[in-house]
Amino acid sequence: MNIILMGPPGAGKGTQARHLVETRGMVQLSTGDMLREAKESGTEMGTVVAGVMERGELVTDEIVIGLIREKIEAGQGNGFIFDGFPRTLAQADALADLLAATGQTLDAVIEMKVDDDVLVARITARSTCGNCGEVYNDNIRPQPADGTCSNCGASDFRRRADDNEESLRTRLMEYYKKTSPLIGYYYAKGDLTRVNGLADIKTVQASIAGVLGN
Ligand code: AP5
Ligand code: MG
Repeated sequence: MNIILMGPPGAGKGTQARHLVETRGMVQLSTGDMLREAKESGTEMGTVVAGVMERGELVTDEIVIGLIREKIEAGQGNGFIFDGFPRTLAQADALADLLAATGQTLDAVIEMKVDDDVLVARITARSTCGNCGEVYNDNIRPQPADGTCSNCGASDFRRRADDNEESLRTRLMEYYKKTSPLIGYYYAKGDLTRVNGLADIKTVQASIAGVLGN
């Protein structure tokens, strides 16, 4: 089963994708995580995209489609979770072509509906474990008091360079201009289901499980 998690910055895509990896053995393909890895490992592409990401603008279709192509062609575990991809119509078309070329289908597109006014609070409170990617939140899921990640025991917590109000404004604008039209596109294809992303994390998990079934 291959699915897309769609929603604005801070909707909870990464949080829910990690849960699906743990519970269903699916493979999370987060283009944001891949781009941040490229930036950290200092590749030429990583250096090119760093400024674009920090400002909250979209990286070119060519770069992200290339990253996704490599992963799809390399094979899969128990299906892919596309997290933060596609973000433009060109990316959606490329994904359809890549899946068709490898004899696969897109089985669900889940839109995580949230109100914009909760996003600033979520984003500015977020941190992640630099070792395993576990997601924390100063308000609802603070880093453990002993300073080590509850998932892997590392003590390398990080905050993202684009997790500030100014970049978030640009990220939201990019979302509404370029990505939200995909909601209508997938709705028309009959692939779209909406879940309430404003509910607490466990309730959202249950809604997504309801969409995906057993
Ligand atoms: P990306 O990394 O994809 O970031 P994003 O879309 O802005 O989304 P986030 O990762 O910020 O949010 P999320 O929905 O994953 O929320 P999370 O679960 O962490 O992209 C970053 C940049 O890379 C882009 O701006 C662009 O430059 C580039 N890029 C990436 N993909 C691209 C593409 N395809 N094309 C072009 N450019 C691309 O949760 C957020 C916080 O909220 C956490 O603290 C969490 O604990 C908390 N939280 C989660 N769920 C809940 C809940 N239900 N209730 C309360 N709090 C919650
Ligand atoms: Mg994310």
